[in-house]
Amino acid sequence: MATVVISLGGSLVNPGKPDIHYINSFCRVLRTCEHNFGIVVGGGRLARIYAQKAKENGANEFEADIAAIKATKQNAKTVIDILQKQAKGQVYPKVCNTFEEAKRAAKKYRFVLMGGTIPGITTDADTVLLAEYLHSKRVLNLSNVDAVYSANPHENPNAKKYATMTYQQLIQLAGNNDTRVAGTHFVFDFLACKLIARSHIETHFVHGRNLLDVKKAIEGRKHSGTVIK
Ligand code: UTP
Repeated sequence: MATVVISLGGSLVNPGKPDIHYINSFCRVLRTCEHNFGIVVGGGRLARIYAQKAKENGANEFEADIAAIKATKQNAKTVIDILQKQAKGQVYPKVCNTFEEAKRAAKKYRFVLMGGTIPGITTDADTVLLAEYLHSKRVLNLSNVDAVYSANPHENPNAKKYATMTYQQLIQLAGNNDTRVAGTHFVFDFLACKLIARSHIETHFVHGRNLLDVKKAIEGRKHSGTVIK
């Protein structure tokens, strides 16, 4: 069975408190697909709260990232607990702390989950690194955005939605939008864009709440989001 690696946005899993209903529906979709899964869960608002608190207590950027990583792992554990109820025995019961642990777990379990790994990167980059390591040729980025746009669609009504893009087009767009200003970020981390290009990983951007599109993307079928290849 092929392995699909998913970047599951923290804002989907935990928009303020864990969205149990959403996570249950998401897990049901995964169960109906004939794939193995690596799932990297983001921090969302929880990560920003943890990082902010750490900074108020004098943390530097590195330490604030460590605090934010805790939030990603907490969200990943929430998903594990729900997935385990649906797919007994198929879920590695711990949040993997390293890529090596994830690779070992993937030999035995159909579902392997991670949060963040090291300071300075994001779960988008972790997702692609995990895909490379597991020889996965397909990545999904699930967030509250339904596709890749030429500009922020909330700010610019003329923003163009892309159905398909090349790796180079995505890298250019991510680079143009990588202002490094806190709180503003492009739909996919710049490093993650470079990594999918070097390993030719087909990458699908769909709205995480559009579960029909999620299923289509897992299976490599046409959907209403964006495909990079
Ligand atoms: P996310 O990947 O969730 O960040 O990691 P994000 O870009 O804010 O994504 P959304 O908003 O959930 O879509 C949250 C934070 O955790 C730290 C970083 O501080 C990041 O901003 N982190 C995450 C790391 O330092 N290393 C990692 O490997 C992952």
